[in-house]
Amino acid sequence: MSVVSTQITYPRAYNSELTNTELRDIAKLHLVSFGDDILSQLGLNVIYRFYHSLYQQSKDCFLVVRAQEKIIGFCLLSFDVESIFRRFAFSQFPVHLLMIGLKAISSSFLFIFLLKYFGKKPVTSEKYLNPEIGYIFVAPEAQGHGTGKQLIQQCQNVCRKLNCNTLYTKTREQDNEATIHFYQKNGFKIRDHFMRGDHSYLHLELRVIE
Ligand SMILES: CC(C)(COP(=O)(O)OP(=O)(O)OC[C@H]1O[C@@H](n2cnc3c(N)ncnc32)[C@H](O)[C@@H]1OP(=O)(O)O)[C@@H](O)C(=O)NCCC(=O)NCCS
Repeated sequence: MSVVSTQITYPRAYNSELTNTELRDIAKLHLVSFGDDILSQLGLNVIYRFYHSLYQQSKDCFLVVRAQEKIIGFCLLSFDVESIFRRFAFSQFPVHLLMIGLKAISSSFLFIFLLKYFGKKPVTSEKYLNPEIGYIFVAPEAQGHGTGKQLIQQCQNVCRKLNCNTLYTKTREQDNEATIHFYQKNGFKIRDHFMRGDHSYLHLELRVIE
């Protein structure tokens, strides 16, 4: 793949320009869509800060569908989905205080350890090969009218432009027939099953370039 030296800016090229108000609207939609997930339990402000920090990092694509200038659908297409919470947590941390503390301790081993496990990892060409839908949701009043399908199509367009041949997503297996049907209707195939905590999940994939 030819694109990857511009690690940070490249996904940004596919981001829609979003204002802070729109990021807050996305956070509100998140809260309505996933009332019981970890972020929602932390409240609207944390969800807003979560999206705001990921948006600033420019490593993930923020894809939106608008109707009358209002965001009615959102998808986070991530090239490093496993790190989104770690990246958010790190962005909230007062880094300069950490640096002063580390200098005082002057322990280079500790410094290397922290950088290795908590430092911002650059997005590598390897990551671009695995774009994954981190979140997708549509305003309740707009569901069932093709907005979700449009978001999946936008994801596919980004994948094609980045020369990524497969788009991935994960979703809960139990009590989730409508979402699974949605993904399968849009061409996703079940790749495997896995457990996270007490819940089983499906890992789905969509071939974008044959
Ligand atoms: C799943 C979701 C993104 C689909 O968006 P959408 O705009 O409603 O989807 P579309 O209109 O393109 O497609 C409709 C199809 O998806 C299915 N679907 C899944 N959830 C649905 C919902 N809540 N309302 C209507 N259709 C839904 C329908 O069965 C329909 O298939 P059909 O036409 O064969 O009946 C949206 O319903 C949503 O935001 N759900 C809540 C959040 C969520 O579960 N996100 C996925 C987490 S992995």
